Amino acid sequence: MAGEYILSIDAGTTNCKAVIFDRSGEITGKSSIRMVSYYPREGWVEQNPYFIISAVKKVISQAIKIAGIDPGDIESAGITNQRETTVIWNRKTGVPIYNAIVWQDRRTENVMRKMENYITVIEEKTGLRPDPYFSAGKIQWLLDNVEGAREKASKGELAFGTVDSWLLFNMAGSGPHATDYTNASRTMLYNIRKLEWDSEMLELFNIPDSLLPDVEPSLNDFGSISISPGKEIPVYAIIGDQQSALFGHAAISKGMAKNTYGTGSFMLANTGNNIPATGSLIGTIAYGLEYKKVSYAVEGSIFSAGSSIDWMKNILNVKSYDKLEEMALKAHSSNAYLVPAFTGLGSPYWDPTARGTIVGLTHSTGRNEMARMAYESVAYQTEDVLQEVKKVTPVKELKVDGGLTRSQFLMQLQSNLSGLNIIKTNTTEITATGSAYIAGLASGFWKLDQLGAMSSTERKFSPDNSSGGAHSGYFGWKQAVAISFGWEN
Ligand code: G3P
Repeated sequence: MAGEYILSIDAGTTNCKAVIFDRSGEITGKSSIRMVSYYPREGWVEQNPYFIISAVKKVISQAIKIAGIDPGDIESAGITNQRETTVIWNRKTGVPIYNAIVWQDRRTENVMRKMENYITVIEEKTGLRPDPYFSAGKIQWLLDNVEGAREKASKGELAFGTVDSWLLFNMAGSGPHATDYTNASRTMLYNIRKLEWDSEMLELFNIPDSLLPDVEPSLNDFGSISISPGKEIPVYAIIGDQQSALFGHAAISKGMAKNTYGTGSFMLANTGNNIPATGSLIGTIAYGLEYKKVSYAVEGSIFSAGSSIDWMKNILNVKSYDKLEEMALKAHSSNAYLVPAFTGLGSPYWDPTARGTIVGLTHSTGRNEMARMAYESVAYQTEDVLQEVKKVTPVKELKVDGGLTRSQFLMQLQSNLSGLNIIKTNTTEITATGSAYIAGLASGFWKLDQLGAMSSTERKFSPDNSSGGAHSGYFGWKQAVAISFGWEN
């Protein structure tokens, strides 16, 4: 009998989750584990690759238990993951040569500064801009800094993967070495026009092609993962987490846009067959349901959103997010700003040397105003990106998801700043939903035209006058951002 459930594994930066969906798209079981990041030096961010695997295994078995089902009831699984994060391991032993270098890590600033000379060719081929965010610099750093790595790589003994590949290699029977179009499109080594690894990019970064995984459509038979002895679940989807959220919103037509307020904040708008000319944004593969056939998206990547709220909550020693929002609502509107460039600034500024800044303090700036600044910093950064996205494709409304959408203050401010309706869906796990949808499409569990109908609007925020002075505040934000640029270590 065909299974009645789809499992989605969402291996994110802050949380690792497993979510089980039934045929109506309802969540019947979910489990989450907080991830641990290490900061061994200023600007460095690492995770333990083994912890990622054990977290995934744990959340899967917990979610199955919570759903009260048998692993055999699961039809198929999809993997979605934090993108760009880089692991290199020994093909034979499976042992990683170093920790996973997380997407937020800035250690390759110098490598990327040199790459500024090749900005046009990099953009043309990969859709990306030279920035430590992407995998290529991290791979180069590992080969050059881990003893013996370059020599082993030249003998074909090492394998590179983003988190999806690492999980697949370790959890699927014969250890396949594969990824999907969306994850490959974040490495800066993949030609998003030709849909193949690009030899010129490999040469530029001095990376041997023997390291690279096979690249498959996001909908593909990736092998089976073993849940318990004798219980195998086929993996029919792999997709980067932001693209997965886009798919989870069923944003499969050109012009549909979403913003995910997670650790960072990522806005993607579907551009269909068009590879967007990007400027201050990046071009990326949105998904590929068939071999050599993909849809593209324009993306604005903001590095600190939820992480800025967390930072402020900790600094102010506030117990809960609700309390922090309460404080923000009580604040006098002020001209003080937090620019949360903790790991540099991504879209639309792209300055890895920018650092966090607070400006505009007066004697009347208190704890409430500080709380408000943190929320405003997320809204202002998102508005920065939205203005650029609108230059590429008209945006009629913005679908939103992620933890911070619980903040009504933030959502209303976003609507007031943008003049757009902000649509919050009733599905809390949109990222997991996207990869579940694709895994479900693969086996005929769902049909494409069913997807949009499986979620509905929980709340629509329309522009009003409640965040008084939102626009004058935005002007001051631009001045504050300019102050954060160029703080070299
Ligand atoms: O590009 C980084 C992004 O994939 C991370 O997403 O949700 O783990 O913050 P998240």
